[in-house]
Amino acid sequence: MEIVIVADRAAVGEVAAGAIADLVAGTPRALLGVATGSSPLPVYTALARRVAAGELDVSELRICQLDEYVGLPPGHPESYRAVIEREVLTPLGLTQDSFLGPDGAADDLPAACAAYERELREAGGVDLQLLGIGSDGHIGFNEPCSSFSSRTRVKTLTHRTRLDNARFFGSLDEVPLHVLTQGIATISDARHLVLVASGEAKAEAIALTVEGPLAAVTPASALQLHPHATVIVDEAAASRLK
Ligand code: F6R
Repeated sequence: MEIVIVADRAAVGEVAAGAIADLVAGTPRALLGVATGSSPLPVYTALARRVAAGELDVSELRICQLDEYVGLPPGHPESYRAVIEREVLTPLGLTQDSFLGPDGAADDLPAACAAYERELREAGGVDLQLLGIGSDGHIGFNEPCSSFSSRTRVKTLTHRTRLDNARFFGSLDEVPLHVLTQGIATISDARHLVLVASGEAKAEAIALTVEGPLAAVTPASALQLHPHATVIVDEAAASRLK
């Protein structure tokens, strides 16, 4: 595992955007897995700046989703499909035609999960998966004690994650109870994992991910098993590393 420690959140974004730009330079039609939440926002800002400056051509890039809420009505502004359209596709000049994601509104959710696994495989697999990390060490919505061999499936959010995410909704009651998420094995199929984190609130989870035991209770510790994993953190998120 490669650990990159930089001064601040903006620098985390620049370093991760650089890894994505290098990928796109060699593989214009790469499949980029994106995450939602606050952590990857500086990455998307840095990518959009490079595109606007004419330094990066992402016109052939394909984007895929890590996870999705269950039961939000189509077009709900906090559905992750809508968030990715707003924060990634539109700023990069891409459309839904370049986008793959699981259907959180499907009647048959297990079938939707299996279909998404198939779609990812048929698309040739994910070249680079960008990840955030929960304060409890989750990646995607694989909460503590998720199996390292899990595939895309329905999960129940923990109370802590619902509280963390309530800031995006009007109230805690509006945060869905269930999600579809790529499993840890699905995530680990990506050829390069890039985890970004900033701020003191992530320091404990980063220390457990990087230096803790390999343990299902810290889902992100699965990165220790990956042949090409990069963790990019600011000094505050790195503050509990030995
Ligand atoms: C969301 C996702 C989650 C977040 C994590 C951290 O797609 O995959 O694992 O990355 O909950 O969220 P932030 O970055 O908002 O602290």
